[in-house]
Amino acid sequence: MGAERQPAGSSVSIIGPGRAGMALGRALESAGHPVRSFHARSPAGRDRAAAFFPAAVAGATPAEAAALADVILLAVPDDRIEEVAARIARGVARVPAPLVAHLSGRHGIGPLGPVAAVGAHPVALHPIMTLTGGPGDAGRLAGTTFGVTTAPGDSAAEEAARGLVADLGGRVAIIPEEMRVIYHASLVLGGNFLATLATAAGRLAATAGVPDPAGALGPLLRASLENALAHGEHAMTGPVRRGDVGTVRAQSAELSRLDADLADVYATLAVLTADSLQSAGLLAPDVAAALRSAVARR
Ligand SMILES: NC(=O)c1ccc[n+]([C@@H]2O[C@H](COP(=O)([O-])OP(=O)(O)OC[C@H]3O[C@@H](n4cnc5c(N)ncnc54)[C@H](OP(=O)(O)O)[C@@H]3O)[C@@H](O)[C@H]2O)c1
Repeated sequence: MGAERQPAGSSVSIIGPGRAGMALGRALESAGHPVRSFHARSPAGRDRAAAFFPAAVAGATPAEAAALADVILLAVPDDRIEEVAARIARGVARVPAPLVAHLSGRHGIGPLGPVAAVGAHPVALHPIMTLTGGPGDAGRLAGTTFGVTTAPGDSAAEEAARGLVADLGGRVAIIPEEMRVIYHASLVLGGNFLATLATAAGRLAATAGVPDPAGALGPLLRASLENALAHGEHAMTGPVRRGDVGTVRAQSAELSRLDADLADVYATLAVLTADSLQSAGLLAPDVAAALRSAVARR
């Protein structure tokens, strides 16, 4: 079978049935792509995969599992992809399943070099979603965007990846190889660090005496996020948007006394907010300049 659009029914091998591997395996199976094989490193992983994919063969090595399916998913940690790809490449003279995908956001097809060298079509197939491996993941992959990278000119691999994502009900964003780090940084900034910021804001609210910070901040945070996603800078409110330089100066100074790291974050975000608003024509340049100089930066 070539790397052209994987027809419904093409089989899947999961190498590393952890959180993402289990989620993708279960979703692909529901979409008509049976999980034919898996390779799990630990007994716990083997038991987990065997329970969910009873018809699948447990390969003793990644190469043994990979040889049995049409689509190989390397669902191992980012730093292990190249090593596992090399084990597969060493174990088979020519990779029989032409599509070998990993699920990492950070990497393009670079770490799949060893399998590409023995005939596979490498694909980076990253779901922009948080996956726990539990039943709740099933409904989340439909509507998820996948950051996809293939080798330049490998239109067959791109078409195959598009087919798999379509079967999952997802959407494809093609990311050039050299943009993968920036692509992933955008998700870390918007996803992981949003959680960090929400947690820090809750702690600060508790310090100020708010009894149920998550309950108090929740509606504000959710509305801000929804508005920002829908309207960008135009939905921003608060002291930077209003040009309330005195308020920003007071908060920045007080935070510097309380927590220097948080004060740095506040200052950087205030400047970023002023810059964004100014670029969008929503803040006069002199007010933006006053805001920039009002924040305390180490
Ligand atoms: N979880 C998410 O929300 C999410 C979302 C999008 C993309 N991803 C991507 O999906 C990939 C897997 O992440 P995850 O969250 O699913 O990690 P995980 O839950 O830790 O699962 C990793 C799996 O890989 C296995 N493994 C680790 N090292 C291995 C090796 N050297 N050889 C063979 N198997 C090995 C682990 O086996 P053991 O069980 O024996 O440790 C485990 O089954 C990563 O590239 C990640 O960036 C994850």
